[in-house]
Amino acid sequence: MNNILSINNITKIYHTPKEEIMAIDNISINVNDGDFIAIVGPSGCGKSTLLSILNGQETATSGEVDYHHKTIGYMLQEDALFDWLTVLDNCLLGLKIKKQLTDDNKNYVTYLLNKYGLKDFINSYPRNLSGGMRQRVG
Ligand SMILES: Nc1ncnc2c1ncn2[C@@H]1O[C@H](COP(=O)(O)OP(=O)(O)O)[C@@H](O)[C@H]1O
Ligand SMILES: [Mg+2]
Repeated sequence: MNNILSINNITKIYHTPKEEIMAIDNISINVNDGDFIAIVGPSGCGKSTLLSILNGQETATSGEVDYHHKTIGYMLQEDALFDWLTVLDNCLLGLKIKKQLTDDNKNYVTYLLNKYGLKDFINSYPRNLSGGMRQRVG
């Protein structure tokens, strides 16, 4: 099995003026290529905290994440598409801001839109897409 993500002994303690909150207590997960993993648990058990750590928005108190030289994407339940931009322009915006809008990158975006079944919608606006299509654009 090809290991693509290793979460090793992650612990997260939030410090607030009032208290310390143990959000994650020593969790380890190995993700292999092709795995489909669901993290299930009651509200407040630390699911979002774990995703925020994987995404780099939060730092773990201890433990480490090994990304095996891969980048990671994070699609929230609610997308953040701009209603006034077409599908293509939504997808190119990040590259534009980072001044990386090369022909190669533009072709790759088009290739991905094809791959995700959005070929006929690249000039459509988000309001004309289904929820699943919006998520794929996101
Ligand atoms: N920024 C924060 N500061 C302090 N406590 C937090 C913060 N974010 C989450 N928590 C606390 O950490 C625990 C786990 O929260 P969270 O990861 O949002 O759980 P879940 O996504 O499983 O509902 C909860 O007790 C929550 O109140
Ligand atoms: Mg949550």
